[in-house]
Amino acid sequence: MEVIHSIADLRSRISEYRRKNDGSVGFVPTMGYLHEGHASLLRKARSQSGLVVLSIFVNPLQFGPGEDFERYPRNTERDLEVAEAAGADLVFMPTVSEMYPTPTRTTVAVSGLTSRLCGASRPGHFDGVATVVSKLFHIVQPDQAFFGLKDAQQVAVIQQMVQDLNLPVEIVPCPTLREKDGLAMSSRNVYLSDEERKQALVLSQALDKAKEFVQSRPNFHAAELENLVTSHIASAPLAVIDYVEVLAFPSLEPFENSTHTDSIILALAVKFGKTRLIDNVILQLRK
Ligand code: PAJ
Repeated sequence: MEVIHSIADLRSRISEYRRKNDGSVGFVPTMGYLHEGHASLLRKARSQSGLVVLSIFVNPLQFGPGEDFERYPRNTERDLEVAEAAGADLVFMPTVSEMYPTPTRTTVAVSGLTSRLCGASRPGHFDGVATVVSKLFHIVQPDQAFFGLKDAQQVAVIQQMVQDLNLPVEIVPCPTLREKDGLAMSSRNVYLSDEERKQALVLSQALDKAKEFVQSRPNFHAAELENLVTSHIASAPLAVIDYVEVLAFPSLEPFENSTHTDSIILALAVKFGKTRLIDNVILQLRK
């Protein structure tokens, strides 16, 4: 495994690979502080691609004022161990000035899909994501890129961007990895106190309840499902709900009654103290 800091070096390593090999280039973009969720994307890339490229870059553009950019957890040494064990070939770790030499005046913005859920509570967040991911796609020029459905809205936004801009990359959505007790893995889980960590279990429990509810009922209203989930989360005294929303997936359009909807997402964002956690479940209503 090789660690690379400059765009020029990464480009020349990847073109050298392409000159000498027929295999495809698989790409896993991350912000580091790697956990099993990230490792699962790398393993999937390892199984499908000839060259596996990982990027680790805490992207300032996707953090709003007052968010956790400065204190976002970092641990390069451990990240490199996880990356190597999961099968990465090249690890791209640029500095902020390598990615954004000043001034930078171009933003990639995907409209519509970004107006709800995290897009509504974090204005500008998805512009930052779409901009950095399109830059990374232009630098790496991968055949496949692997994204976790833990961030399902991010997957929908990136898929739309790839389609709209005719980017020659296949987006491979990958399932959410969870801790044994159900909490979705996240780099931000380290922020939680012991008590917050315990209470955060209500999130995956609420999603399980929603799954059961949907299975037992052929027709339901989005609001019924939202109420069920909201009241379970409210049983945790430290939970402060940002949103609980049921939308059609992947369009992220609202719906009232499930009769005409094939696939839905139940997505939530909840704060425990200063830590904002997100989770979701995507449910197939009919084949
Ligand atoms: P980050 O939060 O580091 O996540 C990197 C990738 O890992 C994303 O595709 C995310 O969905 C996936 N991931 C995170 N937790 C996961 C879990 N529990 N199970 C499966 N996959 C999981 O998402 C970002 O970084 C950034 O927005 C990025 C795309 C790198 C752009 O800066």
